[in-house]
Amino acid sequence: PDTPLILGLESSCDDTAAALVRGREVLSSVVLGQAELHSAFGGVVPEIAARAHAEKLDICVAAAIRQAGVTLRGVDAIAVTAGPGLIGGVLSGVMLAKGLAAGLDRPLIGVNHLAGHALTPRLTDDLPFPYLMLLVSGGHCQFLIVRGPHDFTRLGGTIDDAPGEAFDKTARLLGLPQPGGPSVQKAAETGDPTRFRLPRPLLDRPGCDMSFSGLKTAVLRQRDALIADQGGLHSRDVADLCAGFQDALRDVLVEKTRRALALYLDEAPASPGFAIAGGVAANTPLRAALTMLCAEQGVTFTAPPLALCTDNAAMIAYAGGALFAAGTKHDMTLSARPRWPL
Ligand code: KG4
Ligand code: ZN
Repeated sequence: PDTPLILGLESSCDDTAAALVRGREVLSSVVLGQAELHSAFGGVVPEIAARAHAEKLDICVAAAIRQAGVTLRGVDAIAVTAGPGLIGGVLSGVMLAKGLAAGLDRPLIGVNHLAGHALTPRLTDDLPFPYLMLLVSGGHCQFLIVRGPHDFTRLGGTIDDAPGEAFDKTARLLGLPQPGGPSVQKAAETGDPTRFRLPRPLLDRPGCDMSFSGLKTAVLRQRDALIADQGGLHSRDVADLCAGFQDALRDVLVEKTRRALALYLDEAPASPGFAIAGGVAANTPLRAALTMLCAEQGVTFTAPPLALCTDNAAMIAYAGGALFAAGTKHDMTLSARPRWPL
């Protein structure tokens, strides 16, 4: 009863979400995706996203309240993603949060979307600070040492595409359905990863930065060469290209994780832990390789359940609760930030 009940709102990309969280208990988590609104355009259209968030946010809040079996009056604080993200969507969330905070006379907490992802492993697991996190999704790719709700050290990240984006573009190039991650993974199961040797970008350079756009370009070149050669693509070619692509991406992520772990372990954390989050964390071969790497290094491997790995508002409510407990409180001057590095 002493632990505050937090309402969380998320609208920074193409998912509209609301959740009620008390401490580590998720009372409800409602996510309305917009995939079908954007599918015809081959990417998220900011204007369409913003409009949909504005239309759907209060429906999400009402559903989250109903499913949690609480009342709006019972909410102790309102946490909202204040960035980074598509500005129209972030604004929709921040405006609703301000309205609720003012109307209910409750504290308002602006949460960094990336901090939401980065703190999620602590919502479901007993993972002590500091831990190393790899955030890999359609929009993000970075290594963070997570030291506390306010305290992150970025060790590196992608300098161009995020891995999920590379999966999605590869799927599009090969005529596979969206989202690309699951369909490429499935096609790769029957493929020969050695037939096409795809590049492992930036592995020859020190540090934890990554690059994935060259990988997608390599898939495009191979595809075009096959089409020029044979007049089309056989399902065998698609499977082999997917397997080659997935192996290359895994190799890059595993090697860069090895380097990030070395930097992290240099600090001699008392109980070393590694966590993965974001939609690409669902990739089975990648997960298996990272699990093995962690076992080899004596580091505990944690992956939140998928529903909490992808965009959701429970992570925002949970992070908001952690920030609130640490004394963070915002007022009506809270602004929506399209860019907001941790
Ligand atoms: O975290 P997320 O839901 O959202 C955003 O980044 O906005 O991540 C979605 C991404 C998509 O690019 C999708 O293709 C990828 O995660 N993904 C996967 C898998 N499942 C989803 N990538 C690789 N393998 C998977 N099994
Ligand atoms: Zn996200």
